Order: sequence, then structure tokens, then C-alpha cells
Amino acid sequence: MTAHIPAGRPGPSVQQVFDTDPVPPPPLMRVESPATGLGSGDVSIDRYFDRAWHEREITHVWQKTWQLACRVEDIPHVGDHVLYEIVHDSLIIVRSGPDEIKALVNSCLHRGTLLRTSGGCVKQFRCPFHSFTWGLDGRFIGMPGAWDFPTIDRANFALPEARVGIWAGFVFVNFDADAEPLETYLENLPEHFADFRLEDRWKAAHVAKIMPCNWKLAMEAFCEAYHVSTAHPQVMGYYGDENTQYDVWPGIRHVSRMISVQGVPSPARAGIPPETTIEQMRRDIPFFAGKPIEIAPGSTARAALADRAREKIGRSSGRDMSSLSDSESLDLIEYMLFPNMVPWGGQSLPICYRFRPHGDNPEESIMEIMFLFAKAPDGSHPPPPPITWLGIDEPWANAKELGSAAMVADQDTDNLRRIQRGLRASKKPGVTLAAYQESRLRHYHETLDAYMAAE
Ligand code: FES
Ligand SMILES: [Fe+2]
Repeated sequence: MTAHIPAGRPGPSVQQVFDTDPVPPPPLMRVESPATGLGSGDVSIDRYFDRAWHEREITHVWQKTWQLACRVEDIPHVGDHVLYEIVHDSLIIVRSGPDEIKALVNSCLHRGTLLRTSGGCVKQFRCPFHSFTWGLDGRFIGMPGAWDFPTIDRANFALPEARVGIWAGFVFVNFDADAEPLETYLENLPEHFADFRLEDRWKAAHVAKIMPCNWKLAMEAFCEAYHVSTAHPQVMGYYGDENTQYDVWPGIRHVSRMISVQGVPSPARAGIPPETTIEQMRRDIPFFAGKPIEIAPGSTARAALADRAREKIGRSSGRDMSSLSDSESLDLIEYMLFPNMVPWGGQSLPICYRFRPHGDNPEESIMEIMFLFAKAPDGSHPPPPPITWLGIDEPWANAKELGSAAMVADQDTDNLRRIQRGLRASKKPGVTLAAYQESRLRHYHETLDAYMAAE
């Protein structure tokens, strides 16, 4: 068992930064909950490449858990659908009625053909091989030459379905008819996101890239800030790395959080002039470019940057953002939902990540970056753009819509290729984790181990 936070974490803490923010964050962000009761041993590395582990993950994780399938605004009209593919499974996520979304198994009940190979809008699902046809709700409509199928009971020939749940504008699916409802699976996430209101956002960008590593390795690289000073040293003038807050709540299995403050330097750069913080943030993040950012007498670089962020987010959304907290205007407020979703709460970094295996290959994955922008006050928004797909050798920088997030993701991707290879070369059977800064990874793996061990 490890201590909450080992002595020696450098300050200021995230909470000390919040103490002086002119616009304070929501109350649940003012609470620290360092993990207690986690183990401290090495985490086995077979989980990152072993085929038997991968096969068991299919049955024990992908077939059992609630997973993000799409956003509701991806399928606004009846007949609109997208595919959700996870290893061998394929689901058609379809708006089957104005207020109804279904997840139909994408496989013809005649001889198994995929009914759809991409999303779109249709009136019914007709198989391209012999025209067996189902309605949007999965009910069987008919086939040519019905006389030749005397054994088919048409009333009971509906497409199988996965369960569907909706939270905060996200559509979730679960293959397990006996799984707990989404509402309890989400644990404390809805309470924490009540103030962030992701249901009032829309998906303004969506980039998917094939990654040269196991899906868990990719996710882990985006769930701790310990690597930042080495992998992304350019950000240390304006990003709180070693003082990042990591939260794991007692009894909560599926959710964890980290908060990294921006607009203040890393503890390792404490004492740099506030003008340098602003200058370096503007150098890397085009969002803060433009007219000069002045620090009012007696104020701070962070407060000046938050003012600029509120002004810009307010202008682009048409909403009054004057009471948006400094933290939501600037910081990385990152949650994880087991197994593979990483939604953020803030508005200048309105990110949501998703990670999953690439097909049946445990050594490649699909990582997706979505941006969720605030809708206009009347709820209107442009249609979400199509997904930009990047191959395994294409840099994130090819996706211009990612802006400054691409450089950081490319730095991580270079490392991830080396990590996947390095783990295969390792003669050490486990990876060793930091007690606090990697506590979310520990918590995540303990939940994963519990799912993997279930009967
Ligand atoms: S396989 Fe689909 S109609 Fe024959
Ligand atoms: Fe990183």
C-alpha cells in the first residue's frame, strides 16, 4: 500500500493556484482526492502485446463494458447512422426515430455480409448480396423469393442489438445484456460534469490515427504529466507538470481525474518573469495569439490569459463566458472513464480522447482526438465535420484542425513506438509506476485486472 502523496511534491499545488484565481472553479474541483489503498508492485507487461491477454480482453472488457460509440449530433436525423467497430465486432449506431437511437449488429442474418461498411443516411438496411432487408429499428422487412425460406419466422428475425445509453451528448453501447446500467457505471462522472455541460457542446473536430502501440499504452501517455518535462520541455514556462493533481476516489472503479494548471510555470521554472509565461504560451498555442496580453497591476499572467480565453471562447460561441472559471478557461481538466474514454472539462482545451485496438492487432491502436466546442445559446451549431483519418506513419500535424495539440501528440507518438518495441525487448516482467504521478495508471490497471479476473 502506498501513501496518499509521498512527501516532497513541489508546489504550488493546484489548489493553491485556485486559491488566488479571480474566477474560482466549480466546488468539485476544489477537492483533492489522492488515491489510497492501491498496490505498489510492478504491472505485468504481457497486457501490452500478448495474444492470449488480447483475446481475454475481448471477452472480459470489450464485451462487458460501456463504450463511447459516437456523439448524438453525429446522427441528427432519422436514418442517420455511424459504425462503431471494436476488434471483431461491428455495430450500426442509428437514429431509428426522432428520440430513439439503436445499436444493431452489422451482420446479415442470411449469410453474414456486413450490412454497412460506412455511415450515412438510409431508409432501411438492405444487404448488398441478396437484399434481405431490415427497418431502421432492426425489424425484418423481407427478402426476395420468400417462398424459399419456409423456416424463417419473419416476426422473430430482427437484427440483434447492443444496449444503448446516452450521457452528456455521448452515445454509449454495451454488448452485455446483464451489465449494470450506464447510469451506475458512470459512477461520479455525471456529478463532476454537471458544471461542464458537455451536452451543450458539439463536435467541431474529430481526428483518428492508427498508433504503433497497444491501445492502453497510448491512453496512459495522455493520463499523466510526469513525462512532460522530458517529452514536452517546450511547455514548462506555462504548464504545471510536477504539481499536477491526480484524483482517485474511494470505491470508484471506472473514473479518475487529473488537473494541470496553465498560465503558471512548472515548479522547475518557478520565478521566470510572468511576461515569459505569456510569451511562451502565445508562441505554442495560436489560441492566445493576436493582440498583446497585458498584465494588470497587481494581477498575474494566469489571470490575464484567462481573461483572453473567456473573451475568445465567448466570441466564438456567442455565449456570455464572463463567469467561466479561470481553470475552465485555461487548464487541463482531464477525466478517464474505463475502459477507453478520456473526456475533458475545460473550454480552451475542449478535448475528448478515445482509444481502442486497431482491428485484431494488440500492438496497434486507434487513437481519436475530438474537440467539443460550446454550442450557440439557442443550441444551434454547424454539422460535425467528417473524421480525418491518419495512417500509422502520418503525423498528427497533418490534421490542421488540431492546431497546437498536434505537436504534443506527435512527440508522444514517437515515444510510443519506442515503448511498444522496448517492452517486447524487456527482460523485466513488469513496469514500475510512480506512487502519485502515475496513480491513475495504477488505479486503471487494478480495475482492468478485476475485469480480466472475473468469471
Ligand atoms: S448475405 Fe445478406 S442477403 Fe444474403
Ligand atoms: Fe505527452
